[in-house]
Amino acid sequence: MSIRLGVNIDHVATVRQARQVHYPDPVEAARVAEAAGADQITVHIRMDRRHIQESDLVGLKAAVKTRLNVEMAATDEMMEIAAATVPEQITLVPERAGEVTTEGGLDLAREGALEEVAAAVHRLQELGIEVAIFADPDREQVEGVLATGADSVEFNTAAYAEAASPEEAQVQLQRLADAARLAQSSGIFVAAGHGLHYRNIGPLVELNLFREFNIGHSLVAQSIFSGLGAAVRDMKALLS
Ligand code: PXP
Repeated sequence: MSIRLGVNIDHVATVRQARQVHYPDPVEAARVAEAAGADQITVHIRMDRRHIQESDLVGLKAAVKTRLNVEMAATDEMMEIAAATVPEQITLVPERAGEVTTEGGLDLAREGALEEVAAAVHRLQELGIEVAIFADPDREQVEGVLATGADSVEFNTAAYAEAASPEEAQVQLQRLADAARLAQSSGIFVAAGHGLHYRNIGPLVELNLFREFNIGHSLVAQSIFSGLGAAVRDMKALLS
């Protein structure tokens, strides 16, 4: 089974926003990622617009040749952005103002959540957009995702990635495997992401249950060290 890599380029925009200038451009990052084999470009448009902006979505929609996967909260404002962009996929995620990063999956067990999320899923699917739900790897959340009619589930790997010991990582890996098997047996597309890097991806790949991983922070972090030497050499050449 070949596994799709969704490259999350939010933090390219984070660097740009730190200076309020026009570079580095996430559209250029998407081109580089696709040229290197990315199967999907993932971005998260947040309510506070701390990295990706609406104008980025316009540029990415025009430039991305694989699939554009936009993560967003299921709010009215975001539904309007989805309708204006019509990416290949929307991943519905929870969002808490001020959080450093997404803190968990959508809680479909919360009173009224199922109806709200199912309505958003339906609205997006009517626009021809595939819908994924970011969920914690638990039975009741999987059942909730299935009840919403979403096309796919992306399991939150944060508890696995942040495990304090190898034993805890094993427990979280088993939890992910159980949830992925349950989702897979229902015929839904199964993805995973959050906190994944070069040293913790292996055991997840070996499970052979996930058809896609969305990875951002570790790729952008690694690219600094893959590219900083060349960047310094180019500047030095201009000084000599
Ligand atoms: N998947 C989802 C749903 C996310 O919210 C994020 C972070 O924006 C990621 C994947 C990527 O996580 P990371 O940047 O830790 O690789």
